[in-house]
Amino acid sequence: MAPLRKHDMRLRSARQEEIKEVWEDHWYGLVVCLSTVYTPSDVEGIALVDDQDDVVGLVTYQVDGPAGQIVTLDTLIRGRGFGRRLLEAVESKFHNLGLGRAWALMTNDNLRAAGLYLSRGYRLTRIHLDAIERVREHKPHLPDKGYEGIPIRDLWEFEKLGPLGVPVP
Ligand SMILES: CC(C)(COP(=O)(O)OP(=O)(O)OC[C@H]1O[C@@H](n2cnc3c(N)ncnc32)[C@H](O)[C@@H]1OP(=O)(O)O)[C@@H](O)C(=O)NCCC(=O)NCCS
Repeated sequence: MAPLRKHDMRLRSARQEEIKEVWEDHWYGLVVCLSTVYTPSDVEGIALVDDQDDVVGLVTYQVDGPAGQIVTLDTLIRGRGFGRRLLEAVESKFHNLGLGRAWALMTNDNLRAAGLYLSRGYRLTRIHLDAIERVREHKPHLPDKGYEGIPIRDLWEFEKLGPLGVPVP
């Protein structure tokens, strides 16, 4: 198989069954946020697809008033710039919807995702200590330790205020 290259990829709306499949594979089928539990039908998504129209990355989001929450961001192949491209795409979407705030939650072991968000101009605005206890009620199989052996305990909240969808200097 030829290597995947950035310019072979294109963005399009994600289909419900694609969101469902990625969430089954990566999120135990649902996403537990601070006071909400999302299932695939609660969100919309943007897919990054290859020349065969197969999904290589997916970002899902939910709009609430003037804010857009990035609910999940997944790339099937890491370190090729696909995460950045999806993040830019969802920000553009929010911008076109007239939203002035983008935000996302991640677990306290997810240094890679934190690096991506910070490099796109997001700021760590809240740390929800022990928020994973509630997540574990819905996902009893969630391991105690995550990336790099870091105990998973807290949720980090990252935020970016408008203008969204413009290059970060
Ligand atoms: C987080 C995730 C989406 C990143 O996707 P990716 O395709 O590997 O990311 P990219 O290749 O676009 O990297 C973009 C930026 O991330 C940052 N980054 C990547 N690896 C990093 C690391 N090890 N440490 C710090 N920052 C890092 C860099 O700023 C990088 O920019 P650069 O390539 O110009 O250096 C991907 O790792 C993933 O799917 N993780 C599992 C799901 C998840 O945790 N999602 C986030 C919470 S919803």
